[in-house]
Amino acid sequence: MEPTLNDKPLQNFTPNERIALVKRIFNSVTPHYDLLNRLMSARQDVRWRKFTAKRIPTDATRVLDVATGTGDLAIEIAHRRPQVQIAGVDFVERMMRPAQTKTVARGLNGRIAYAAGDALALPFRDDEFDAATIAFGIRNIPDRAAALREMARVVKPGGKVMVLEMTFPKSLGLRRFFEWYLNHVMPVVGRTISGNQEAYRYLPASIQDFLHPDELARLFSEVGLSSVKAFPLTLGITYLHEGIVP
Ligand SMILES: C[S@@+](CC[C@H](N)C(=O)[O-])C[C@H]1O[C@@H](n2cnc3c(N)ncnc32)[C@H](O)[C@@H]1O
Repeated sequence: MEPTLNDKPLQNFTPNERIALVKRIFNSVTPHYDLLNRLMSARQDVRWRKFTAKRIPTDATRVLDVATGTGDLAIEIAHRRPQVQIAGVDFVERMMRPAQTKTVARGLNGRIAYAAGDALALPFRDDEFDAATIAFGIRNIPDRAAALREMARVVKPGGKVMVLEMTFPKSLGLRRFFEWYLNHVMPVVGRTISGNQEAYRYLPASIQDFLHPDELARLFSEVGLSSVKAFPLTLGITYLHEGIVP
């Protein structure tokens, strides 16, 4: 039997147990995922994805969106960069059903192709893309260095690896507020709307367990990415990190 968050805290899960938990959770949250994203971030998530899409190199023609989920970043990139073809990959196929529906509704189905795939073994050859993005995905992958290396593998030399992720703000006052919000507001709103208690206990736990922005920047350098930049968004509750493939 796979453990649940009732059995032990997230930090005590083995990497394989954690991956099983992530798959179970994203298989169950799909119908409410977009609504809860907008609600819980007060629509800041839309702004964060727009910022990320604007940082896609203007001359890019192929972009990969890893852990694409319901496709919001892939769609934003397609709007922002009309010349780009996008591949979206996720290991929970159910999450990509709304992605496909939204993509067709916006007339972007010739531009974005979704495929099942694991961030740690991307179904693409080396150097296929001008940029690879991952939004709110890397926190769910226990081996973050391996995920960054795999993204770098499929990006051409000179291309960009970009990670958009929620983190803990640096200022103490803000941290306290964010902690209260994560632990007391988020689980209640999430449970009330989705009826899924585990998912909205996992969300704050995974944010609190994630790397500090400086640690993530260091990891970018350790895996060999250069010119690493980190952009704090909305008082630093989210960061965009980017690095160049050598
Ligand atoms: C919080 S959602 C983010 C979805 C989307 N990128 C967004 O901006 O809303 C995290 C997604 O990461 C996916 N995911 C987690 N680990 C993965 C892995 N190893 N390979 C592929 N997808 C993964 C989950 O299935 C889920 O769809």
